[in-house]
Amino acid sequence: MAEKTISNLDAFKEDHSENVIDTNKKLKVGIIGTGWIAGSHMNELKKMPDVEIVGAADLVPGKAKKFMTDWGFPDVPCYLSGHEMLEAIPDLDAVTICTYNKQHAPCAIDALEHGVNVLLEKPFTVTTEEAVEVMRAEKKSGKILSIGFQPRFNPNMQMLKKFVQSGELGKIYYIQTGGGRRRGIPAPFGTSFIEEKTAGIGAMADIGCYSLDMVLNAVGYPKPLTVTGYKSDFFGKDPAYWTAENKPAEYADLFGVDDFAAGFIRLEGGIILDFRISWAMNMDTAGDTLILGTKGGLRIPSTECWNGSIGGPMKVYRTLPNTTTEVCWEIPMLNNTREGEFYYKIRNFLDAIKNGGTSPVPSSQILYNQAIIDGIVKSSNCGHEIEIEIPEV
Ligand SMILES: NC(=O)c1ccc[n+]([C@@H]2O[C@H](COP(=O)([O-])OP(=O)(O)OC[C@H]3O[C@@H](n4cnc5c(N)ncnc54)[C@H](O)[C@@H]3O)[C@@H](O)[C@H]2O)c1
Repeated sequence: MAEKTISNLDAFKEDHSENVIDTNKKLKVGIIGTGWIAGSHMNELKKMPDVEIVGAADLVPGKAKKFMTDWGFPDVPCYLSGHEMLEAIPDLDAVTICTYNKQHAPCAIDALEHGVNVLLEKPFTVTTEEAVEVMRAEKKSGKILSIGFQPRFNPNMQMLKKFVQSGELGKIYYIQTGGGRRRGIPAPFGTSFIEEKTAGIGAMADIGCYSLDMVLNAVGYPKPLTVTGYKSDFFGKDPAYWTAENKPAEYADLFGVDDFAAGFIRLEGGIILDFRISWAMNMDTAGDTLILGTKGGLRIPSTECWNGSIGGPMKVYRTLPNTTTEVCWEIPMLNNTREGEFYYKIRNFLDAIKNGGTSPVPSSQILYNQAIIDGIVKSSNCGHEIEIEIPEV
């Protein structure tokens, strides 16, 4: 089989010229939830000359104050809930919601009802019904709601989408995606990822939503129709897992979410999606992502510790037109842009607010991502295939 490097790569690259930031108009931004990921938000917000951080909130007394002080903003007012902050600061332009999953929907609805633009961390919500409720509040408010999928702003991910959408692969009929970790249930600062009452969903919400977004975004987010789902918790419920990780054995009793899940999903347009995701398993990888089309196939390497990024050069398998010559082209990795993808996830959200643009990662797309995850949960619970029902927004 002929091996070469794909020649017209430039056609699949995004334009990354920087917009000049208008510092005459500043945005008043608040942070809801000051745990682990809020630090990444602060790191980027601090760089932006048109952002004024005017408040922070966390349910844990003193946590928001300590967070803001550590980040060099000791005088910013802090509150004991997102709601308290929304009531106290009437001219807030935007909030970034960095709470655990179960508080995504209530905080987002509250902010939108207060007329505030929302950057909501992934996953969108826990259930489809919650996502629809948030979207109803979004529609009523007319504000921007963007969901925090930073891999969208990675140049390799953008090239992947452009490549698939160029038609080079022909009609797409089958996608395999997902990822896995051999031992990687996240509990670095407590149990908010593993308890049902805070997380609601586990590996699917933490890393599965990235795999789904990578492929669904590439093929234009077709609607999911049916799903056969499976989920399990063999590792998280095992006290020996936690002691081996130098964590309390009691985490096994608290564990209330999935650590492995799989789904077989039919998408509108005749595409089959075969998905699996793992926080822990006796295997090195759950496999690469494959996109099969009538004219070509694409292999997207997984990463050892799946985090939503492309693990190495993608490969395109094709037959040259009007020949029987099979070729395999390697797509070289692009370097990251000047700022990282987390910067652009926030910058694009702020620019949409300032310039009257549309949401960079719209809820109308991520609703389908959520509906697949929720469908896997529901199908797994009832033990058979289900139709995916999405209420009207
Ligand atoms: N985009 C990414 O790369 C990335 C990475 C890690 C986590 N996340 C997502 O970010 C979210 C938070 O994760 P984390 O690791 O920071 O969790 P965390 O548990 O460390 O922090 C969440 C904080 O939110 C606070 N909180 C909850 N409800 C609140 C409310 N109503 N008002 C104010 N504060 C509230 C909690 O007290 C806690 O301090 C999760 O949904 C996770 O999926 C995204």
